[in-house]
Amino acid sequence: MKLNIVCIPGDGIGPEIVTEAKKVLNKVASVYGHEMIYTDILMGGASIDVHGVPLTDEAVETAKAADAVLMGSIGGDTTTSPWYKLAPNLRPEAGLLAIRKALNLFANLRPAVLYEELSDACPLRKDISENGFDMLIMRELTGGLYFGERYTTEENGVRKAVDTLSYDENEIRRVAKKGFDIAMKRRKKVTSVDKANVLDSSRLWRKVVEEVAADYPEVTLEHMLVDNCAMQLVKDPAQFDVILTENMFGDILSDEASMVTGSIGMLASASLNDSKFGLYEPSHGSAPDIAGKGIANPIATVLSAAMMLKYSFDLDKEAAAMEAAVKNVLKKGYRTVDIMSEGCTKVGCAEMGDLLADEIG
Ligand code: IPM
Ligand code: MG
Repeated sequence: MKLNIVCIPGDGIGPEIVTEAKKVLNKVASVYGHEMIYTDILMGGASIDVHGVPLTDEAVETAKAADAVLMGSIGGDTTTSPWYKLAPNLRPEAGLLAIRKALNLFANLRPAVLYEELSDACPLRKDISENGFDMLIMRELTGGLYFGERYTTEENGVRKAVDTLSYDENEIRRVAKKGFDIAMKRRKKVTSVDKANVLDSSRLWRKVVEEVAADYPEVTLEHMLVDNCAMQLVKDPAQFDVILTENMFGDILSDEASMVTGSIGMLASASLNDSKFGLYEPSHGSAPDIAGKGIANPIATVLSAAMMLKYSFDLDKEAAAMEAAVKNVLKKGYRTVDIMSEGCTKVGCAEMGDLLADEIG
């Protein structure tokens, strides 16, 4: 099979981790008889440096013409990087928001799994973490506060800033369907998270999710308020299968969920539209403090590439081989510095990529 992949190395550790993900993908290609065609585009700071904007129309067109997009990370140090002296709509993150919108990537899947081999890194008490956990956050990604009208003004000498949170029922329905579809392939439970005791948008969210649930009688649906959910994630994370929520709540809860796994360097993500097209990126950021040192953990990007094979190309066997490679390398005791523990062998980014590629086939 021919796989047309657009890569966004991006900023910080992005280029290093994308290089390693390609290394593993290339091994998959040679073992399973596929052809990977990569085209790089610039986004974030890397694009600002060359074009003065975080994403060009040409880059969007190139991405649209591909089958899938594999991204590293974008952004820099917000206190020291010159990118953050620019107007907000010209900063690196604006490129990411723009590509999500331009490609209609409304469904953001963020799995948070406690790896047995890394359970010591879990910051939760043993009696809470001992049964493990495996949840998936389905975050709405192209609506809500992120894309509502916003402005800053001054009224009678008083500065004022406004952000708008709005959802229509179609936006809620399409992501809810994706959430229930995924739940059907997992443990068949959806926890829909909202703030329906205060927000109108949440009350509509709840209604529409219930309508969608009627088509999935096998799936158990529960509603949870977002503040309670933040608490339950540290009290009893094993209760969750699929967490379905709007953009801003999902942004916050997914960072929390990744932290309780103790291994944010391990967590992948997929952003999907209505077709097979998707953008795949690690859940962590660009880590400018360790960029270029060769010590970043490429595993989240490798696992994002595995999600890409599964969701955009239906290559389940190949994706499973990549996931197994990660488990095997961990079992053999190899660790990048972020997940290092006593008795293990510390390796750098490129070495980890080599080890993972060697496990394939
Ligand atoms: C994320 C990030 C982005 C977001 C930022 C970089 C704009 O935090 O992907 O979770 O808030 O969506
Ligand atoms: Mg975030």
